[in-house]
Amino acid sequence: MKHFVLLTLLSIASLCPSMANVVCQKAGPHNMHIRVEGDYRYLLLPIGDKAHEYRVQLIEDNQLYRSLIIRLANEGEIDYYVPLDLQGLNLDALHLNVRYGNEPIAWDKIQAVNSYDASNTDKYRPVFHHTPQWGWMNDPNGMFYDEQKELWHLYYQYNPYASTWQNMTWGHSTSKDLLHWDHQPYALEVDANGAIFSGSCVVDKNNTAGFGKNAVIAFYTTAADCQTQSMAYSLDGGLTFTKYAGNPIIVAGIPDFRDPKVWWNEGTEEWNMALACGQEMQFYASKNLKKWHYLSSFGKGVGCHDGVWECPDLMRVSVRGTDEHKWVLLCNINPGCPFGGSATQYFVGDWDGKQFTPLYENDQVITKWMDYGKDHYATVSFAHAPHNRNTVMVWMSNWQYANDVPTMQFRSANALPRDIDLYQDDKGIYRLGVKVSPEVANLKGDAVKEGTSRIKPLPATAIIDVEVTSTTRPATITLRNEKGEQVVMTYDFKAGTFSMDRVQSGLTHFSKDFAAVTTTPLFVSSKTHRVNIYVDKYSIEAFDAKGYWSMTNLVFPTQPYNQVEVVGGKVKVYSINH
Ligand code: FRU
Repeated sequence: MKHFVLLTLLSIASLCPSMANVVCQKAGPHNMHIRVEGDYRYLLLPIGDKAHEYRVQLIEDNQLYRSLIIRLANEGEIDYYVPLDLQGLNLDALHLNVRYGNEPIAWDKIQAVNSYDASNTDKYRPVFHHTPQWGWMNDPNGMFYDEQKELWHLYYQYNPYASTWQNMTWGHSTSKDLLHWDHQPYALEVDANGAIFSGSCVVDKNNTAGFGKNAVIAFYTTAADCQTQSMAYSLDGGLTFTKYAGNPIIVAGIPDFRDPKVWWNEGTEEWNMALACGQEMQFYASKNLKKWHYLSSFGKGVGCHDGVWECPDLMRVSVRGTDEHKWVLLCNINPGCPFGGSATQYFVGDWDGKQFTPLYENDQVITKWMDYGKDHYATVSFAHAPHNRNTVMVWMSNWQYANDVPTMQFRSANALPRDIDLYQDDKGIYRLGVKVSPEVANLKGDAVKEGTSRIKPLPATAIIDVEVTSTTRPATITLRNEKGEQVVMTYDFKAGTFSMDRVQSGLTHFSKDFAAVTTTPLFVSSKTHRVNIYVDKYSIEAFDAKGYWSMTNLVFPTQPYNQVEVVGGKVKVYSINH
């Protein structure tokens, strides 16, 4: 029987047209084997952005080394190429096994090369926001500040093999100022055990885990048939990681069980972890980062439960103008956003080292949102940020349409970094104060123009500061281009709200959920209000100047907005220094 199968396979095996340095050989009716002839650094794969997803196995010495899912393009339908890195692999003993269907895949366009050109080809590539050079990005992961090197590390959910979600890998970038990012090699790659989902890093200053003093330790979710928690350590400051041999470190038979966030608890002198678990958060403790025990759960009956809770973060946050601190539990939720899709919910309360107790205000636990736009998700903080800052990164998209937005070479950017604190609103309710991180001040270039009505031309990327005075009539700020595409922001003093209307902002056709108006309460009444608006190639972030609210929205104008018109206020436009 075995021989018969082998003979049948051999007889249907045939060579397909391919580049000289790549051999594609049929190994079954729906199986292709791809081999590289010679020594090359990359295999260039033709991708169709909406093509079928095929299972691609890398097999070295008859061992499954990596299992990927790749949208290999059909003939004549190639959108872009991505590089599969072959470094360190024994090419003589390596083949790719592709399982495919009936589509005419462009096998002959697969080629082996020694370099890959990552220069930008996308008109929406932001000027002052972090993006991957190519491929897909979602949540920020594992961020920490290296106190010795004064370097910010940002890892992120990354698919190097297409600009759509798959093959979760931790991409990595570093920055001296949270504004200019250097791309680093991938930190944790999908392997035969599964994909690498979101998580966090800590610096083990006292070597509690035994990997070495100041080892950087990453915690992440291994996502395969079920979700388990794993760890990896780095002895070179977070550049390269070794997966811990004793993985997984936490197992439970729950389908949505992920995104470990770890921090050091001064009070109990142990490590704590928050984990997203269905529609609640679980807390764990450990002395050595390897063995964890369950402490408590939080979430039943409070807050928004319209979706799955993801990416938790628990941090001690100062209350503005006082010596007081409270604990803030970030609880990203998808769906559940007041405007549809994904958003960052949070709870203010207390953490005693074992349990999170939410604050009851007006006899209830009030549902609170960190941002009032549609493109603010997976918010988590940097570990070890200087001066006890609570500095966070935010994925600037929404699962409703993240895979469909009209960029191609890359998909998704991170929002501007933000520092948070707490304040009390007009009703005495504790709310998160959100401001751009102090480093962002360096973005402000020359004042281009100021006025009380229309400013034209507007630089393609700009900071727009507006001051409005409360009257009976609304004040508006309109960004517009020559094509009549516009974004209208409105202060409605009567309603006590600020809103952003992107219904006619440009391209919206890619998702029925994109055209929207988002609205925030002003929270603190005042005679005058100031807003700082950051306009990049495809995003608008509006921050109340006192940090009482923020609003983060994507826009896809077919030409840059080249004028701003203000009714009922004063406007000053600054160029961007980057
Ligand atoms: C949030 C999330 C996480 C998960 C990751 C997978 O956006 O769903 O819960 O770890 O994305 O990429």
